[in-house]
Amino acid sequence: MKNVELNEHGNGVVIIDQSLLPGEEKYIELKTPQEMYEAIKSLRVRGAPAIGIFAGYAMAALARQEVKPQSVKSCCGASGSSDEVFMQNLMDYGELLKSSRPTAVNLAWAVDRVIHAARVEMFRARKEKPGIMNVNAGARRLADAVQREAFAIHEEDVEMCKNISRCGMEELARISARTGRDSLGVLTHCNAGPLATSEYGTALGPILMANEEGLFGENGQKISLKVFADETRPLLQGARLTTYELMKAGVDVTLICDNMASLVMKNGWVQACFAGCDRVAANGDAANKIGTSGVAILAKHYGIPFYILGPSSSIDVNCPTGADIPIEERNPDEITSLHYGQQVAPEGVKCYNPAFDVTDHELITAIITEKGILKPDSL
Ligand code: MRU
Repeated sequence: MKNVELNEHGNGVVIIDQSLLPGEEKYIELKTPQEMYEAIKSLRVRGAPAIGIFAGYAMAALARQEVKPQSVKSCCGASGSSDEVFMQNLMDYGELLKSSRPTAVNLAWAVDRVIHAARVEMFRARKEKPGIMNVNAGARRLADAVQREAFAIHEEDVEMCKNISRCGMEELARISARTGRDSLGVLTHCNAGPLATSEYGTALGPILMANEEGLFGENGQKISLKVFADETRPLLQGARLTTYELMKAGVDVTLICDNMASLVMKNGWVQACFAGCDRVAANGDAANKIGTSGVAILAKHYGIPFYILGPSSSIDVNCPTGADIPIEERNPDEITSLHYGQQVAPEGVKCYNPAFDVTDHELITAIITEKGILKPDSL
């Protein structure tokens, strides 16, 4: 089963509940706008591209629910509520979903994309009957348009991840040639694998694809990869999800606490850092899971290339710099107790819990997208 899917009736979304992994592999179905909002907010579905895919399907499911079987036929033969009511409801659902997490641009991007598809369909219906007033496309036709767009978002993500993975593999082969090493260590932060996307992932994509196909150097020699996964405090996406995905695939992965990255780099065990992204500003600054910018600073100190891997849809040209990217702040419980099973800090302690940070473009060696490898200052 896929990690995010529309249900067979098209009126609900089925996801693997990432908040329970790796202990429990449980699929849940979400039908109401509130359930969908909560699933994003509590990271049952997470990772920027996966949130985008989920949002597309959530909108498709909610749009389908607007198609009422008992609805009257309009004068033009279309059934359902008037297009304006349908569009208004769709936009309200979209606003609710968008408000669940502000940093990943893919969420708003996917919501706006499916709304746009419905609007285009509405105007298409009007153009088909020129001269007739109040032509409605009808809820079914608009819901079909939303669903088609949601499927397209998902299908494109699969292709995109494959292309990112291939570009990342080529870069690893170049690093091997440059360093003269047939064994490379890659450090990654948070989780940017298949769970966070559709297939392969972004930052984990080149590693998983290399594991499947083999990675070869310029003389045809096999290049082996060893991954160091930062645990990623406080929600432990690295410990819980990255190691789970890589071990399942049979990749050599070593879990480290976030504060061990410096030592691992100093030991010479890391030749590249691969991280995903939630939003890239027009100047190349990149927002990703809290702790990513620290990894990039360390990498610069030790002369290790630091890469951001993500779809071009994560590049937000409307955000001039990283300072313009909204950073989500989360519940202090995540720091003081959530994954400890008990309170570990004094009750009532002041906490600051930003979910993301911004890596300065000067620290980023390159941004690996499905369109190729970009230098941050060339966006
Ligand atoms: O809070 P999360 O777990 O959704 O944060 C996820 C990340 O920071 C990922 O690195 C990013 O979304 C890219 S996923 C391909």
